[in-house]
Amino acid sequence: MELFVDTHAHLDFDLFDEDREIVIQRAIKNGVAAIITIGVDVESSKKAVELAEKYATVFAAVGIHPTECADIPDRDFDLIEELANHEKVVAIGEVGLDYYHMRAPKEIQKNVFLYQVHFAEKLGLPLIIHNREAHEDIYDLIKSKNISEIGGVLHSFSGEISFLEKILLTDFYISFTGNITFKNSKSEELVKETPLERLLLETDSPFLTPVPLRGKRNEPGFIIHSAKKIAEIKQIEVEELGEITTENAKRLFKKLDI
Ligand code: NI
Repeated sequence: MELFVDTHAHLDFDLFDEDREIVIQRAIKNGVAAIITIGVDVESSKKAVELAEKYATVFAAVGIHPTECADIPDRDFDLIEELANHEKVVAIGEVGLDYYHMRAPKEIQKNVFLYQVHFAEKLGLPLIIHNREAHEDIYDLIKSKNISEIGGVLHSFSGEISFLEKILLTDFYISFTGNITFKNSKSEELVKETPLERLLLETDSPFLTPVPLRGKRNEPGFIIHSAKKIAEIKQIEVEELGEITTENAKRLFKKLDI
């Protein structure tokens, strides 16, 4: 039973130090065919690549997260680019803008983002985008010619329907996390509005644990809970949702060899 691609997890985080291998095995048992583990800075991008080398099921994305982008030495960009050449690196990410935490001024966040877009362009890799309260600027960036041609996903999508509608005019994919299972989730409307062929699944492990496991550490094997909820909203079988979203993931992440 191989159903799902967890397109966004942080397997390198300390929370998995005790039982990382068991977590990966459990994910496979629960129908996860591939996990993309995402770097947030040079250190975690390196670890992501190491995990991808160690486990057949694991692939990596490398990049500098917008909350980690203050005072980046030039050398870090060189290292990200070097890592991005690895055969199991399927995307540049996570990258983007975060105006909620605002750990660096907007201009710096944009520059760090654009610098990494450059690698994506050069290497033909899609972008995994983090957007927190930066809707307008993200939209302006991704509708530009070069970025819209690179493509990618807006991960852990949040925002109003009107923002989603604008994003759907680009070729970007949309993914939702375990928060789709939360009571009174505003994401239900967003899921309804997103065409199946533009949807990806993700956990964002160790964060955003789905109901009924909320309060525990999240892990890729828990993806079934958000998948079931999305299938229910879309009124299809969860197996069909798995098939469609796995095809979507393979179309976007061309190096995802599963
Ligand atoms: Ni993330």
